[in-house]
Amino acid sequence: MERDPVIYSWSAQGDAERLRVAGGEGCRFWDADGRTYLDFASQVMNLNLGHRHPRLVEALRRQSETLYGLAPSFASEPRSELARLLAEVTPGDLGMTLFTTGGADANENAVKLARWVTGRQKVVARYRSYHGATAGAAALTGDPRRWPAEPAVPGVVRMFDPYPYRCSAGHVYDRHGAHAFDPAAGHADDCAISAGGPHLDEILQYEGPESVAAVILETVTGANGVLVPPPGYLASIREVCDRHGVLLIFDEVLTGFGRTGRWFACEHWDVVPDIMTLAKGISGGAVPLGAMVVSEKLRSWLEEHEFASGLTACGHPLACAAGVATIEALREERLVENAAAMGEVLAAELPELADDHASVGELRGLGLLWGLELVRDPETREPLVPYAASGEAARPMAALRRAAMDRGLHLYVHGNLLLVAPPLIIGRDELREGLGLLDEVLDVADELTQVRPAQA
Ligand SMILES: Cc1ncc(COP(=O)(O)O)c(C=O)c1O
Repeated sequence: MERDPVIYSWSAQGDAERLRVAGGEGCRFWDADGRTYLDFASQVMNLNLGHRHPRLVEALRRQSETLYGLAPSFASEPRSELARLLAEVTPGDLGMTLFTTGGADANENAVKLARWVTGRQKVVARYRSYHGATAGAAALTGDPRRWPAEPAVPGVVRMFDPYPYRCSAGHVYDRHGAHAFDPAAGHADDCAISAGGPHLDEILQYEGPESVAAVILETVTGANGVLVPPPGYLASIREVCDRHGVLLIFDEVLTGFGRTGRWFACEHWDVVPDIMTLAKGISGGAVPLGAMVVSEKLRSWLEEHEFASGLTACGHPLACAAGVATIEALREERLVENAAAMGEVLAAELPELADDHASVGELRGLGLLWGLELVRDPETREPLVPYAASGEAARPMAALRRAAMDRGLHLYVHGNLLLVAPPLIIGRDELREGLGLLDEVLDVADELTQVRPAQA
């Protein structure tokens, strides 16, 4: 652990000593002292192929020997090939791609395009969302990571989230949790917010639909709770958007490329957006890359209008070569299928684990994306740390992250949520090893629920 003159994101620079990571392979990485960690977070849910996947190493080596930089205006083999592959793997008529450097700029471009195409200004986004940290993407973001960037870019209107465990309309539902995701198991049918469309329709009525360009949603909410949309939710949002000429943007930055056991999470519900934004797993996390993929109706618009946007590194050859290698690996090694199969293991074994620990209020997820929402009291559902807690108030979750690292397990922690999101290459043995360690971490969580915040 040591300090250096790097400004690290989302933290005060003075308050944290950092693990110095020296290398990684497969589902593990190791520190400078040679201690290894099982990566149950795929770093930040982006190393979907794990660490140092041979195909990615080779693709980057080969590409750097041929062409390692290219102006965005030129065509090149990896850029064209990746766009072609994306048209193949994305659902419906999504088929034309703008490459970006990550998720935030993919979302910003999606909103820009939606505004140009519709001639409308406003965008509807949800509260429990994260769409990136640049100014425009932070404005779309609903969670407190938006606050330091405020006053934000204007024109964003908010809607509530399908979150039956803490229903914004005050409905009290049995916890869905400690249950596997079951698309047939309806819940919250009587709640306009959890149904999606009726809530959006009402918002549009007050905003004036003719002023709203787009709705942007994480298909399955990621770090803000692993909120899996109830059956019919996305279809009902789609219907309201279509009725009012509002474009639908799915942010699949975290959920894309097999994370949920399908290529893209929206395929679980057969709903296709007008624009899909991608990043993280698109390059297996090997190099920065993002994308905005648009549908046929936007393609026609783009044929006739200038696309007034772009970045120096748009469609970078190394990034696109990594993207091509990633899709080939996902296909040839059947990793999306593996994510679905290993997701079944988690769906069978996580509920038992959760039931053994009073600190787990609800368990939600699908494929290789699960969230354990931690509470002080399962009856009152008081969160283990308050929403948007930082500093002292957030200490119990920081302690849990440390407890996991002490046991050789890397977990992603956000708010009162522990995420389970291992690489898609994981097998049963490593999965069970991780669950065993998670069990120990949840013992620590159970103890922490006995400590009131003031004493923490
Ligand atoms: C759902 C979602 N959208 C967008 C982003 C932003 O992506 P990036 O960090 O690549 O800008 C993230 C990053 O965590 C994300 O989880």
